Amino acid sequence: MIDPRPEVAALPRVVHGAVKDSELRLLAKAGVRPDEVVDFSVNSNPLGPSPRVREALAGIDVARYPDDDASDLRAALAQRFGVSPEQVLVANGSAELIWLVCLAYVRPGDTVAIFGPTFGEYERAARLAGGRVITFSAPREDAFRIAVPQALAWLRTANARIAFICNPNNPTGTYLEPAVIAALVDANPETLFIIDEAYAAFLRPEAGLDALLHEINRGNVLLMRSMTKDYAIAGLRLGYALAAAEVIDALARAKPPWSVSRPALSAGLASLDDEAHLRRSQLSAAEAVTFLQAELRRLGVTVHETRTNFLLAEVGDAARMRSALLREGLVVRDCTSFGLPTCIRIAARPLDECRRLVSAFAPLAVAA
Ligand SMILES: Cc1ncc(COP(=O)(O)O)c(C=O)c1O
Repeated sequence: MIDPRPEVAALPRVVHGAVKDSELRLLAKAGVRPDEVVDFSVNSNPLGPSPRVREALAGIDVARYPDDDASDLRAALAQRFGVSPEQVLVANGSAELIWLVCLAYVRPGDTVAIFGPTFGEYERAARLAGGRVITFSAPREDAFRIAVPQALAWLRTANARIAFICNPNNPTGTYLEPAVIAALVDANPETLFIIDEAYAAFLRPEAGLDALLHEINRGNVLLMRSMTKDYAIAGLRLGYALAAAEVIDALARAKPPWSVSRPALSAGLASLDDEAHLRRSQLSAAEAVTFLQAELRRLGVTVHETRTNFLLAEVGDAARMRSALLREGLVVRDCTSFGLPTCIRIAARPLDECRRLVSAFAPLAVAA
């Protein structure tokens, strides 16, 4: 047997929350049809993809390789954000961007700073690249808010090569104001800041969206966004980065060829073309979060404040709660892998589905 690199051997297997096909098969045996299962564990656009995506997918020639430069989609994104196409990279989901950043920038022994609890891929990618991960933990007692003076002091002494900031943060739903991020960037010119805005499209209130765009010209700020989430195309995978042309060039050099499929590129263009659909989805998400917060609190559940399209609820035993709801055909995210074994994360879904969740929750919330 040939040993893998030590960084690989030390890496735990990935845990993500989406319902697995094998779980769906078990549910089907227990009488819950897969098409009846409602997935609150994936934080994407609650209305599903734009109808234009389905139309666009119908005409695709899958025998041809995709355009590796994603030139049409890059041009469309560049125009939307008022940047040049050289400042845009399209990737196989924002997850690919996280790995590319680490592959391109993290040298063995480099420090990678993370603000936790947060999305697990930052740490995995950093460790695989040989990075040393340090985490600034936002305490539950402070509603997972980051204490800004302490964070500034912590990062100033960290000498980090990279700092990952998820904003709004998964799974807590907390949000760091753009001015705070600008202050962190100002104080640390030697650190590359990766601002993961996977949930920024659903920011509530919207003030602040795109406020960091001009920061990319500093050269040490990269914004990443997830079209997977914005436009509900998780099965296709699509994300993009906005950064200085030199940073984008470094990631493009590290990127595997053709990693973004032809259907994903077409779906991206079709989605961008249907902004009215996104607008409706934003309103639907806001309505659902307000409803879920109120109803779960009415049941006596502690629900944390959120600035985006999902919320974190305290349920005692998250794994048990997930299993109990799954038996009802409802999937929520058990947050144990985030270090929060008493929390579940619930994504916004259309109101009728939220009502179904609240009804199933009522007897369980008493038991929790
Ligand atoms: C914070 C965050 N970033 C990035 C991703 C990856 O999203 P995708 O690769 O589908 O764009 C996720 C997925 O859950 C996420 O929660």
